[in-house]
Amino acid sequence: MAKRKILVTGGAGFIGSNFVHNLLESYDDIKVIVLDKLTYAGNLQNLAKWKNDDRLLFIKADIANKHELDTRLHGIEFNEVAHFAAESHVDRSISGPEEFVKTNVLGTFYILELARKLHTSGNLKVFLHVSTDEVFGSLGKEGSFTELTSYAPNSPYSASKAGSDHLVRSYFHTYGMPVITTNCSNNYGPFHFPEKLIPLMILNCLQNKPLPVYGKGDNIRDWLYVKDHCIAIDLAMQKGKFGETYNIGTRNEKNNLEIVQLICKLMDSRNPEGAPHNRLITFVADRPGHDFRYSIDPSKIERELSWTPKYSFEEAIEETVDWYMNNKSWWKEILSGSYQSYYEEQYKGI
Ligand code: NAD
Ligand code: TYD
Repeated sequence: MAKRKILVTGGAGFIGSNFVHNLLESYDDIKVIVLDKLTYAGNLQNLAKWKNDDRLLFIKADIANKHELDTRLHGIEFNEVAHFAAESHVDRSISGPEEFVKTNVLGTFYILELARKLHTSGNLKVFLHVSTDEVFGSLGKEGSFTELTSYAPNSPYSASKAGSDHLVRSYFHTYGMPVITTNCSNNYGPFHFPEKLIPLMILNCLQNKPLPVYGKGDNIRDWLYVKDHCIAIDLAMQKGKFGETYNIGTRNEKNNLEIVQLICKLMDSRNPEGAPHNRLITFVADRPGHDFRYSIDPSKIERELSWTPKYSFEEAIEETVDWYMNNKSWWKEILSGSYQSYYEEQYKGI
């Protein structure tokens, strides 16, 4: 029987699947149970590499459906929880916030309740909740978010994540559960769903489509390579202090236009027939309530858990572009499915 038996909610999504890859590549003696609803963002192809590996078990269930959770997890043993499952896209939360409240708030509550039963019987080692820096709101030109920054969420997405963070916190204070929350900045890397900025720009370059930049492109995000993030989460699960929160980021602020221009430059050498790709940059109407700047101060996780990123931004962004160049069937399947109508609606008129 494996020592670590980890329930990974949302393990078929972008960060969750990268986390599963990291676990299965790093440990032989492990059991990983992925629980995922397979929404538009969940994709079993993300885990295809492990489909014949008996260290991995997949369970399809909706975390916001208590009955489904109880029946599908009946008899399944685990002693750690890594909670990734969420509705994750800010633009979708603006056009349809209800799913965000259901999954991110109610769903997190049901997962916490499930874990509480394990805790009561002495079988829960750790519950790690994956959250975002967006709960802290928007920064001006100066300063960074620390673990002590007050919550000030501005979008239905970040508000629902803030709600889930508060619930998690309360389970430490009320029930003494071994919970840890991590708040990270914007991730990028393999298996990133094409609706998000970086993959959208790479794929639109490859298809000779406009590159829609919101507003003037001067909003700033603090980009974190997903592989560094997953190593940090695993470290926090093993060495983190219960009841604490840890910010995860790599001091890598860029404005959106810089990111898009860099992707265009990388695409020029890889896809010369489309060069110069920056001719495709198209400024479009800004996102309502668009947060200006996020910036993470990662000093606490560096100091207390000795975490440092393994990858530089320059190598990781190239690796990311190459991943999309080398995995055309992965994204072509997504682009030809239900995502097509979302894209047409979101970017109509450009
Ligand atoms: P994603 O949208 O790529 O994946 C989410 C996964 O959760 C999908 O596999 C989906 O099927 C699953 N899911 C959604 N609703 C569910 C439900 N009701 N029941 C069960 N499964 C459900 O998201 P991601 O980018 O991988 O984000 C993972 C986590 O990290 C989220 O909690 C998100 O808030 C957080 N986060 C993401 C980023 C980022 O840059 N992507 C940054 C900070 C925090
Ligand atoms: P996104 O990847 O949606 O992440 P988040 O909103 O969680 O930060 O967006 C990253 C930044 O890119 C954000 O400032 C919005 C901007 N953006 C565009 O300019 N154009 C686009 O088509 C998208 C999807 C995002």
